[in-house]
Amino acid sequence: MQSFLDIHTTSKQDLRSIIDGARRMKDARNGAPKGTPDTEQPLANRMVALIFEKPSTRTRVSFDLGVRQMGGQTMVLSGKEMQLGHGETIADTARVMSRYVDLIMIRTFEEATLQEMAEYATVPVINGLTNRTHPCQIMSDVMTFEEHRGPIAGKKVVWSGDGNNVCASMIHAAGQFGFDFTFTGPPPLDPEAEWLDFARAQGVNAQIVRDPAKAVEGADLVVTDTWVSMHDPQSAKERRHNQLRGYQVNRALMDRARPDALFMHCLPAHRDDEVTSEVMDGPNSVIWDEAENRLHAQKAVMRWCLGV
Ligand code: CP
Repeated sequence: MQSFLDIHTTSKQDLRSIIDGARRMKDARNGAPKGTPDTEQPLANRMVALIFEKPSTRTRVSFDLGVRQMGGQTMVLSGKEMQLGHGETIADTARVMSRYVDLIMIRTFEEATLQEMAEYATVPVINGLTNRTHPCQIMSDVMTFEEHRGPIAGKKVVWSGDGNNVCASMIHAAGQFGFDFTFTGPPPLDPEAEWLDFARAQGVNAQIVRDPAKAVEGADLVVTDTWVSMHDPQSAKERRHNQLRGYQVNRALMDRARPDALFMHCLPAHRDDEVTSEVMDGPNSVIWDEAENRLHAQKAVMRWCLGV
């Protein structure tokens, strides 16, 4: 049993086996109706707690559905409604939850909360997003890219906009899966240097290019995300929009990338802010596959965590 806390702390071999497992499970379902159980039921008699301290659509629904397809049961919990939100320590919550459930997925604010949950839980813990990283999203993104274009190793991925938590996990993935990464955005919103250093230490090119048109030259994949993340104060909205307007992903920017470049966004999107509807709904966009693959990638993550 092992926790899935981040992409850079999971071995390359395990990450690859998770992606391959996700692919196999998706293929095995062969388009069956969503409520159809998988032929294999690796989570039979298992209980999974899904704890949300922040809003979610994709993570909540895809984890819940994934557990059910694999024969397990879920309890979806809001941090505010638990004693966790009223002063009980994370460590005590982790100890108690471990007596009830076989696996914990948590979406929380601080990375320290996730780390403490994992330290004191005696069952595996999955990172469903923190202010700093979002590894499950990027496992889905890697799976989606490979579905459409084959191996991601050696490709060029460009992130345009805010160097946020999802961007951090993409940079980790660059190092672990071996693709080149370019960030383009305004200096105050750069990703942490530590993440870029991690990717470079794995032997890939990880760089910052301020001019978005130059940055996307030769890109195989262009990615963006909301300009104001859940953990950013709403008071920062106007300033961020002013800083980021020049980094909008639109048709003119996509035209500078390779003709077959894919476009991804983890969603939810703010249409015509960080990306135009023309690109979101255009032929290069794979955003709906990306959202669906959260389901398959996370099922593989849960199996890996439980060793089943
Ligand atoms: N991309 C993502 O994590 O979506 P939700 O916030 O809806 O879970």
